[in-house]
Amino acid sequence: MCGIVGYVGPQAAVEVVGEGLRRLEYRGYDSAGVALVAKGGVVTEKRAGKLANLTEAISQRSDINDQHTGIGHTRWATHGVPNDRNAHPHVSSNGRVAIIHNGIIENFTRLRAELEADGVELASDTDSECVAHLLERQLDTGGDLADAMRRVCNRLQGAFTLLAVHADAPDTVVGARRNSPLVAGVADGEYFLASDVAAFISHTRSAVELGQDQVVTISPDGLAITDFDGNPAAGKHFEVDWDASAAEKDGHDFFMFKEIAEQPKAVADTLRGRFAGTGEISLDEIRMSDQDFRDIDKVIIVACGTSYHAGMVAKYAIEHWNRLAVEVELASEFRYRDPILDRSTLVIAISQSGETMDTLMAVRHAKEQKARVLAISNTVGSTIPREADAVLYTRAGIEVAVASTKAFLTQLVACYLVGLHLAGVRGIKFADEVAAIVTELAATPDKIATVLSGMQPVRDLAAAMPNADRALFVGRHVGYPVAMEGALKLKELAYMHAEGFAAGELKHGPISLIEDGTPVIVVVPSPRGRSVLHDKVVSNIQEVKARGATVIAIAESGDDIISAHADHTVFLPVVPTLLAPLLTAVPMQVFAAELATAKGLDVDQPRNLAKSVTVE
Ligand code: AGP
Repeated sequence: MCGIVGYVGPQAAVEVVGEGLRRLEYRGYDSAGVALVAKGGVVTEKRAGKLANLTEAISQRSDINDQHTGIGHTRWATHGVPNDRNAHPHVSSNGRVAIIHNGIIENFTRLRAELEADGVELASDTDSECVAHLLERQLDTGGDLADAMRRVCNRLQGAFTLLAVHADAPDTVVGARRNSPLVAGVADGEYFLASDVAAFISHTRSAVELGQDQVVTISPDGLAITDFDGNPAAGKHFEVDWDASAAEKDGHDFFMFKEIAEQPKAVADTLRGRFAGTGEISLDEIRMSDQDFRDIDKVIIVACGTSYHAGMVAKYAIEHWNRLAVEVELASEFRYRDPILDRSTLVIAISQSGETMDTLMAVRHAKEQKARVLAISNTVGSTIPREADAVLYTRAGIEVAVASTKAFLTQLVACYLVGLHLAGVRGIKFADEVAAIVTELAATPDKIATVLSGMQPVRDLAAAMPNADRALFVGRHVGYPVAMEGALKLKELAYMHAEGFAAGELKHGPISLIEDGTPVIVVVPSPRGRSVLHDKVVSNIQEVKARGATVIAIAESGDDIISAHADHTVFLPVVPTLLAPLLTAVPMQVFAAELATAKGLDVDQPRNLAKSVTVE
């Protein structure tokens, strides 16, 4: 979703802002722009498409060079098609105020009508442009840019991060946030504002988290924060614990390949120090007592996309270990169906970014209904963990590729830990039972590494089918959500029609999709688990084979029954049934990434997608 950068300091702002935008590319965008301010006034440049288009346009400009104050934006279109006109920054009628915006201004139709009735001619189709004109009007009534920003913010509904510059304040950038991310960076004599720390990590690791409904001003003199009424407010200082090199590709062609390779470490890091040896799992921040956990009589997991698939796996584990009912719901649907919640409901919100608007709104709805909320997130200090009652952070490190990989595996680990924590606190499992499962979990990083070292056949398979137009993924039990995740990866990366099904559902309709050679990827349950599941999947393979499918099975090492039926079998190390998704998801990721590569597609930034979806 949109990326935002602001800078004041001694360096050339166009360079610092440009580098920040490059580091925010992973969020997904379809146009980009900058506004620079100096004594002579505000200059802007913006272009649809990739950053290279903007860089080329800037290189033709003699008036964009040595300004020391600037803002920059990568836009992911919501209101108005992605073109030069709708790209940010937007400038007020007198050309003296420029703004950039992330989010959606829900009352923009009314604001736009009001401006038009006053004779303002809007130059774009966006909701954002209104803010530039409203700021100009407020500045005309007196006060400085921060005063104007506060007054304007009080009129806006919806979600926004805003940055503004004004020709009369050439050393100042003013920012504001509501329901949308904004963080400040502090260095010696220079200050940064950005959607996330990746934008300024090569300049400083010292960061300040802005609170909800706050306005921030940066200038060479420092950083000042107020609420929307002008009362002084404080941000929360933190040190970023990763560096710029973590955001580089490390020799891989795409970040996604690097992130797939990092999974053993990410899983190990997420497990590290979490288990006290007494059967207790350590959560990072808990604003819930053990009694609160004991009082829980129902769990509802809310999440989107890949995080939702992690939640689906969690349902199997938490129900099995706790004998407690677990519902899993797409966050975007949750609050609109009037779910039944009370203070004995635990809502688990899973979000890599911690900023997904659908999930955030589900969290807020749950809290309004007095439910307890536990967040699982990869982003320390992001909004969802901040608003939750308890937090367990995954430690995947920054995930740059839009398609989630290491975040997914670490979400699974976090879900297992939460399930075990609940089972321990609620007295459903003895400490030694929890310890036995944790020991199995601790062995998974090595097993994931083994899976990764045997991926050449999967790469070869993917490289051989760039012309396939569809693929089906099927599984049973925890293999079912993994099948859905495999299909999502293929859809988002290779732009192929791919569907994930519960294997038992095939014969209720989807089997009619199968033609000669249709690839069907089957996640096979362990024959050592509930043998009925394994037998049923063997039958499902026979059903699709009989209709011409090419079957690629992902099976446990030594499962000779499957290899006799499938066209290709990828064998994985032995792991307990409930933990199997930590391994079975990996060949799916590799398959999708390789297929996208074979098709010559941008693996890290698939079309139309954003890493962090901060609008509903
Ligand atoms: C996964 O590959 C996708 N990029 C997407 O489905 C993602 O998982 C979803 O948007 C949720 O994001 P979150 O975990 O940051 O909330």
